[in-house]
Amino acid sequence: MSIINVFLIGPMGAGKTAVGKQLARRLGWEFVDSDREIEDRTGVDISFIFEKEGEEGFRQRECKVIEDLTTRHNVVLATGGGAVLDSANRTVLAGRGYVVYLFASVDQQAERTRTGRNRPLLNTEDPRARLEELMEVRDPLYRQVADLVLHTDGQRVTQVAEEIHRNIKDSVQPGAGSFDPLSLIHISEPTRQYCQSR
Ligand code: S3P
Repeated sequence: MSIINVFLIGPMGAGKTAVGKQLARRLGWEFVDSDREIEDRTGVDISFIFEKEGEEGFRQRECKVIEDLTTRHNVVLATGGGAVLDSANRTVLAGRGYVVYLFASVDQQAERTRTGRNRPLLNTEDPRARLEELMEVRDPLYRQVADLVLHTDGQRVTQVAEEIHRNIKDSVQPGAGSFDPLSLIHISEPTRQYCQSR
């Protein structure tokens, strides 16, 4: 099997963005972040979207962005912690790339998200209890789509990125970072027939 994309899933505070950036650098691939993409497209931050459109509105935008970003090749995509809630997202993530679940304990999540802003779901009296509730629902969904589960408690970003790289490097085509459009011709028979008939 040849890996064309890596998708990072997992709870808030698992380190998806930091690890994703490092991994993309190692692979020579592009790094993309679904939350960041939503903010770029709308021109406002995630909290503002939650405020104006509720979680439902945010999830619709997230679904559209994930559908788009997963059609690219040679990307490392960091997804928002709730992306796996939508079955359409689970399907495209599992079908279009290698999915890595960055697991973090609730204690670690609470510690790592303590100072961050822009996480509207944690604007509650007891953010730790909220993280616990979310994990109960989401952990089985993360596991359902994951090709690899990595525990990140107490790990450095570089160690986690290195571990993922070690697991996939034999399945990543050398030089995949420099994309050759001509290689598409060999991807499938229908594509080749289509191209040849023009
Ligand atoms: C969310 C996680 C956030 C962001 C939004 C909702 C969630 O992303 O998508 O605040 O439902 O867990 P991170 O996991 O990158 O913090």
